[in-house]
Amino acid sequence: MGTITATATEQYDMQVVKQFTVMTIVWGIVGMAVGVLAASQLAFPALNLDLPWLTFGRIRPLHTNAVIFAFGGCALFATSYYCVQKTCQARLFSDALSKFTFWGWQLIIVLAALTLPLGWTSGKEYAELEWPIDILITLVWVAYLINFVGTLARRKEKHIYVANWFYLGMILAIAMLHVFNSLAIPVSLTKSYSAYAGVQDAMVQWWYGHNAVGFFLTAGFLGMMYYYVPKQAGKPVYSYRLSVVHFWSLVFLYIWAGPHHLLYTALPDWAQTLGMTFSIILLLPSWGGMINGIMTLSGAWEKLRTDPIIRFLVASLSFYGMSTFEGPLMSIKTVNALSHYTDWTVGHVHSGALGWVALISFGAIYHMLPKLWNREAMYSTKLINTHFWLAMIGIVLYIVAMWISGITQGLMWRAFDNYGNLTYSFAETVSAMHPYYVIRALGGLLFLAGIIIMAYNCWMTVKVGVKADERIAEPATARA
Ligand code: HEM
Ligand code: HEM
Repeated sequence: MGTITATATEQYDMQVVKQFTVMTIVWGIVGMAVGVLAASQLAFPALNLDLPWLTFGRIRPLHTNAVIFAFGGCALFATSYYCVQKTCQARLFSDALSKFTFWGWQLIIVLAALTLPLGWTSGKEYAELEWPIDILITLVWVAYLINFVGTLARRKEKHIYVANWFYLGMILAIAMLHVFNSLAIPVSLTKSYSAYAGVQDAMVQWWYGHNAVGFFLTAGFLGMMYYYVPKQAGKPVYSYRLSVVHFWSLVFLYIWAGPHHLLYTALPDWAQTLGMTFSIILLLPSWGGMINGIMTLSGAWEKLRTDPIIRFLVASLSFYGMSTFEGPLMSIKTVNALSHYTDWTVGHVHSGALGWVALISFGAIYHMLPKLWNREAMYSTKLINTHFWLAMIGIVLYIVAMWISGITQGLMWRAFDNYGNLTYSFAETVSAMHPYYVIRALGGLLFLAGIIIMAYNCWMTVKVGVKADERIAEPATARA
């Protein structure tokens, strides 16, 4: 695990990796702060402040775009650019494309942050941005693809390490999903209508929506897992063969599972059953991948006690296992009849989003940051530990509150009395949620506090951390 020395800096383009790493932390704080605001608004609606651009309906897509595409996207760019260079022993294909992807992606994020509160939206979940921004996304994404593939092409290693397969799978699938789902007819600069109508529109939207989860939030972060877990553990991945089976089965299965978002709708029944079936089978590659990651630690389990970065990585894999068990369960029609429209879905989302996506990103950043800035280690291991426990308590409060409120909601909505009348009015179900919404907001606040501590720890590492090559120079000075 060498550090990046002066020569290595020339060999690799670490500038763009540093930029994306910093912005991952910045957008993480912004996106999660907006999440905490949204959660607080659900508990205390007065926090909408009667301002149109602060209402929950506008804040919510701002939150999802900020955490998925700004925080998650920057983490994917940073780690994929780092991993592809290190595993291919080659500098990124083009400095110009690297700069274009960084500045282009930041511009898209700023445009999203301006247009969503203004209420300019295509109305498609996770694809809310209007058509001019969609075109910009396509340009940046194609530049990313060329830069990534170009780097693979100039590799000095014969072999393409499996982490790069996952990253490349993610880049290719997202390009396809984004282009087809965003096809629209513009009526003005700020408004367009989908090229699809009715149930076809719903189908295309959830083919996109589910695979945004499957490829952006899963395959990309699995790329991260395959690079950073073995690196931090100092051991090769548990089974290379399993990782190849994992890759092909995951990409083959995910693409069919979208209809599980449209159970009991106008979508033909056979398509719903197909989506459910593929979702259930998805448990297998998901757990295969999780086991591959966790078992990489076999023979080095003591690191879980001593190394808080490993703890982040292993906890993230455990949440990955949990959410990919819960997902197939929720895709079963009879279970979905209860869970759909309730907070159970929101709990499932955040056990994946906070537990898997955010924790693995934190682990990767803690691993990478000292190397990027040529520091011996992170400034404070104690603060990494504090971050870990704040995150852990925050997630548990969040998802347990959502499980309870979701199942309560589902059961209250379907309760009938002896005369066949609904037992509860809708308002009663809303008021029953109140305590859980307060607990969720508190959990979110703790999670946010954790990432702020991380930002401080990173800042101090860069500012006052011992330089990695200075320590090597010390004995020589002593001898002199
Ligand atoms: C401090 C941390 C966070 C808090 C407090 C928070 C809070 C919220 C709230 C209140 C909602 C709206 C729920 C509703 O409509 O009933 C939401 C939705 C969502 N959040 Fe977060 N969030 C956090 C972090 C994240 C992260 C890190 C991600 C992704 C990486 C994420 C992804 C999402 C998604 C995808 C939805 C939409 C869920 C759905 O449609 O079912 N969140 N979040
Ligand atoms: C085997 C893996 C998985 C399966 C089969 C699965 C299945 C499901 C199902 C059935 C729903 C509820 C759909 C509905 O009732 O509307 C759902 C929602 C969701 N899941 Fe998963 N899930 C899986 C893994 C994950 C992971 C790892 C994440 C996050 C990183 C995630 C993020 C989401 C999001 C964001 C939604 C909410 C979509 C929305 O309605 O806005 N899922 N998933």
